[in-house]
Amino acid sequence: MDRAQAYEKLKKYGQEHVLRYYDELSGEEKNALLSQIEDTDFSILAHAAHPHVETGKGKVTPLGALELDQIRANGDRYRAAGLKAIREGKVGAVLLAGGMGTRLGSDDPKCMYDIGITHPVYIMERLISNLKDVVREAGVTVPLFVMTSEKNHDKTVAFMKEHDSFGYDPEMIRYFMQDMAPASDYEGKVYMESRSRMSTSPNGNGGWFLSMKKSGVLNRVKELGIEWLNIFAVDNVLQRIADPVFVGATIMNGCDCGAKVVRKAAPDEKVGVMCLEDGRPSVIEYYELTPQMMEERNEKGDYAYNFGVIMNYIFREKELERIVDEVLPLHVVEKKIPYLDEAGTFVKPEAPNGYKYEQLVLDMVREMNSCLPFEVVREREFAPIKNATGVDSVETARALLQKNGVSL
Ligand code: UTP
Repeated sequence: MDRAQAYEKLKKYGQEHVLRYYDELSGEEKNALLSQIEDTDFSILAHAAHPHVETGKGKVTPLGALELDQIRANGDRYRAAGLKAIREGKVGAVLLAGGMGTRLGSDDPKCMYDIGITHPVYIMERLISNLKDVVREAGVTVPLFVMTSEKNHDKTVAFMKEHDSFGYDPEMIRYFMQDMAPASDYEGKVYMESRSRMSTSPNGNGGWFLSMKKSGVLNRVKELGIEWLNIFAVDNVLQRIADPVFVGATIMNGCDCGAKVVRKAAPDEKVGVMCLEDGRPSVIEYYELTPQMMEERNEKGDYAYNFGVIMNYIFREKELERIVDEVLPLHVVEKKIPYLDEAGTFVKPEAPNGYKYEQLVLDMVREMNSCLPFEVVREREFAPIKNATGVDSVETARALLQKNGVSL
């Protein structure tokens, strides 16, 4: 693409400012910017004009979960089925670690964050340690796939190497990168992060399977004969990964996907809730729940929309292949985006200053024919680290880890 073609493309989307410094750039920088312009889908920036419009919601009705007492009653059978699948090599784990973790405020990838008090305890170390529990129990190593982005890939891989993958067999780990999307101000004008580069951010956690396919890592999934992929977020340091009971329950209930859920702390808690939409599994965002829905009760007298998702899902691989080419809805998310200001100075904002454009895992659940919400005990399996202090922070996660006997 030459300058004239780049200009035409930018003009179509009202983004001509991207070439503002073009004439001052070196030849190499010019080429880099032109190829970034060529590769960028600017059409998504039009969503800035209506960031909160929801894509056609169907009729939402409650979806009950497999609750703790039912899980306990069938625990041995579920565990045996899950362990069998793991031992047969049918289960892989996928760590979604491509996010920027802006709320935590560290420049390093979130997995490198040290939450220790008397000795270093890295987030990644905690996750691997949790996975190793299952490896010990099953007697086989669960293949682990780690999704990064171009912003944190090299650091993540180097960190794992430096720490000998925290004792996990490196042969059983594969890394792949997700795609990026432009980030803009509130008017949908793309920000520049330098004179020769537009600001980009990872395109959300919903593109993970497509990125696995594009990167070639999916071939490995097939070679290994993996039939189930358990995806999990980087920031929940208590979560169980490839949990045999969860795996077994999903298989034995004949579902295409399973979602770990926790009982909500309050009807208005800000978590996405499992539900049915036109009879199909779905996740409704907390801000979409009306006051009536929040108060609605089921036949047991419990709140009908009572189970929040914790970003730990298991998917039947074949079903993911069926939907891999479906275009998922785009979510417009308000975030802090570093940018070049009018004077050409690089600014790292303290508060949100624009939008990122993301596809989300929860929209993959909507594409499944069936989903098993699987209740877990919050204090044992849910310690997310989103913020440096306050709610869902390093402090709250530390307290929960200590409660569960983890030495910090
Ligand atoms: P979050 O919703 O917490 O987003 O991600 P984030 O970008 O990491 O953090 P903030 O909002 O900027 O503070 C939930 C999970 O999804 C992964 C994250 O790494 C985390 O495990 N994720 C998020 C991706 O893998 N890619 C993305 O593009 C976004």
